[in-house]
Amino acid sequence: MKLKKNILCIGAGYVGAPTMAMIACKCPDYKVTVVDINAARIDAWNSDRLPIYEPGLEEIIGKTRGKNLFFSRDIEEGIRQNDIIFVSVNTPTKTFGTGAGMAADLQYVEKTARQILEYSESSKIVIEKSTLPVKTAQAMERILSSGKGNITFEVLSNPEFMAEGTAISDLEHPDRVLIGSHETPEGLKARARLVDIYARWVAPEKILTTNLWSSELSKLVANAFLAQRVSSINSVSALCEKTDANISEVARAVGLDSRIGAKFLKAGVGFGGSCFKKDILNLVYLCQYYGLPEVADYWESVVKINEYQQDRFIANILGSMFSTLAGKKIGILGFAFKADTGDTRESPAIYITRKLLSEHAHVVISDPKALENAMIDLACEEGQISYVEDPYRAAAGCHALAIMTDWEIYRKLDYRRIYKSMVKPAFIFDGRNIVDHRKCFEIGFNVYPIGKPALCHF
Ligand code: UDX
Ligand code: ADP
Repeated sequence: MKLKKNILCIGAGYVGAPTMAMIACKCPDYKVTVVDINAARIDAWNSDRLPIYEPGLEEIIGKTRGKNLFFSRDIEEGIRQNDIIFVSVNTPTKTFGTGAGMAADLQYVEKTARQILEYSESSKIVIEKSTLPVKTAQAMERILSSGKGNITFEVLSNPEFMAEGTAISDLEHPDRVLIGSHETPEGLKARARLVDIYARWVAPEKILTTNLWSSELSKLVANAFLAQRVSSINSVSALCEKTDANISEVARAVGLDSRIGAKFLKAGVGFGGSCFKKDILNLVYLCQYYGLPEVADYWESVVKINEYQQDRFIANILGSMFSTLAGKKIGILGFAFKADTGDTRESPAIYITRKLLSEHAHVVISDPKALENAMIDLACEEGQISYVEDPYRAAAGCHALAIMTDWEIYRKLDYRRIYKSMVKPAFIFDGRNIVDHRKCFEIGFNVYPIGKPALCHF
């Protein structure tokens, strides 16, 4: 088929690459090019070993790569040849200067805007795909309109709501696609072009159009609401542990109210991932900036509860293992921030491992997909760390297991076999409530779930 239209995506990360693969798959008449400053990443996208693990991604890349999906290092040429440009570069939390630890670091977005301005030879539609603070489009527009000549740029906001581990099905069957634009004739025209792309596979009633600022803010708020549910249930898990209530029963009873809903009520060791903490802190910073300290404090408490949950988990390990971990071997089952991904960004496992090392424990880390990232995350840590992919080998000789990721395989392990290979008394700290606690207790383990009474032999 002749490729009639062109799309560029700047940034070949967790968001940009899978999103473009889906667009390429659903729009076979579009030539979709993804560029990145990280040459190694582009090479990996062009190889048999993709740089990220995501169920279903290999298949979709296999169908489109080299046909109408291309990964390239040539950003300059990409900008010249495409008039629809998605910007999907990273927006980490600032680590320096004003807003350090809270505000989004917009240097990559700004650099990208400057690159677009420098290399453009025709007018473009520039689409914010990265999650950005509300009003970022204004900054982008100011940079893009600082050039001379009659080239124009229309900025749209089109935040991505997919979650890792389910990215491909989220992209294929989204709850909604959100497109924000200026409500000017040019803005509406640009918006219509983007709507046309999604309309190839998304029902019209699910394509939501709003003004630019609503779109930018909605993404931050959606993540804040999701994280808030996790912190809410985690805060209640602390109360359950004091009162002999059972968090799974409470979550079920509460979630069956159709006004509340059952999703995102799983208590655990806390939320991780590249978005939740970053986006909430970003929201907090915006509230402070606009003089709304009460609103800022409200949202900040979601992050504080998340930290509290991780501290509680560590305190539980330390307290139940006779207040000393020095020289004890602790197996960490799962290092990814959630199941079905190799991503470890903001994973609770990082914090928990550091705390265990500071208690002079020997930490054995196991994960089916995240060991490479774990090694990078812990490269600067002092202490005894081993990496063992096979959970049985990882558990052998351990005094305790801490389940940090809800990988399905951990549900199905032969815990009897594991128990036999461990030092006694053996402990399980189930940070995701995924194992059969009663069964493990009967095998001989001392079991510490989240938000449920501990099952102890002493
Ligand atoms: C999130 C949003 O869901 C997605 O819409 C947005 O585009 C990006 O951020 P992601 O971070 O990939 O996606 O994963 P998500 O499934 O939201 O989980 C985030 C964290 O919350 C994980 O650490 C997960 O284990 C935790 N979580 C989630 C819970 O602890 N309990 C729950 O009930 C749900
Ligand atoms: P996300 O989870 O939001 O997709 P990632 O960090 O996985 O974030 O991906 C962002 C990508 O953007 C990285 O691969 C990074 O190299 C790339 N990037 C950052 N700045 C630029 C830039 N100016 N030009 C091209 N790519 C960039």
